[in-house]
Amino acid sequence: MNDSNVTPMISMTHVQKHYGDLHVLQDITIEIPRGQVVVVLGPSGSGKSTLCRTINRLEPIDSGEIRIEGELLPAEGKDLARLRSDVGMVFQSFNLFAHKTILQNVTMGPTKVRKVSSADAEKHALELLDRVGVTKQKDKYPAQLSGGQQQRVAIARSLAMDPKVILFDEPTSALDPEMVSEVLDVMVSLAREGMTMVVVTHEMGFARKAADRIIFMADGAIVEDTDPESFFTAPKSERARDFLSKILGH
Ligand SMILES: Nc1ncnc2c1ncn2[C@@H]1O[C@H](COP(=O)(O)OP(=O)(O)OP(=O)(O)O)[C@@H](O)[C@H]1O
Ligand SMILES: [Mg+2]
Repeated sequence: MNDSNVTPMISMTHVQKHYGDLHVLQDITIEIPRGQVVVVLGPSGSGKSTLCRTINRLEPIDSGEIRIEGELLPAEGKDLARLRSDVGMVFQSFNLFAHKTILQNVTMGPTKVRKVSSADAEKHALELLDRVGVTKQKDKYPAQLSGGQQQRVAIARSLAMDPKVILFDEPTSALDPEMVSEVLDVMVSLAREGMTMVVVTHEMGFARKAADRIIFMADGAIVEDTDPESFFTAPKSERARDFLSKILGH
């Protein structure tokens, strides 16, 4: 039997993290199987971004273990660079390289980190730009694109590394409302294709449509871990009921 079928894509075991006196991640234990789409919800300051950032080691943890496909997160060096390409991250601010064209933004990682030839990287990049609907913008610079277009380029750039997992931290929060759905549509299609995704978002429509699982955090702890239907129709905790009434109540 192939081990990778049973080894979780992401596993966190008794993960603890403090910022000074603040216990920002409190004994987090979760397993995320390959292909699962997890939406992380919770009030501001509950630790959602910190959770994501620990998974690709933008933030170190105090104790516990984080594994990607069974392998402990590397602390530094080449292994860390490889981890960062296996575990892509898409942020609220698109973080494209301002002085590179759209096409160069997407080919850079594969040529520099994955050592793919320029020709192959460009071919793949053009396919990805087509897929996210920004082929026409390929020779422009990020500042010449709308926010929605830039975020779709950021997703293409992440996909260019052929990641095993993509973490999304509020990918649509900085966008004008009319651009939100074009980015969510790309994410829904990725989800349907079987990408393993951890998504922090306030887009409840996306959560209902695309999530396999909802993790609700409050004060650095996982308070609920369930399927979307159960979470939205019958939240168990007072914290989750309160959160839902605020977010859905207007
Ligand atoms: N680098 C840091 N140093 C100190 N405290 C931090 C740091 N980063 C985050 N925090 C604190 O840790 C807590 C959790 O922050 P985090 O950004 O993970 O929350 P969040 O759930 O993503 O919130 P939001 O919904 O507002 O993005 C907050 O109280 C925050 O102020
Ligand atoms: Mg956050």
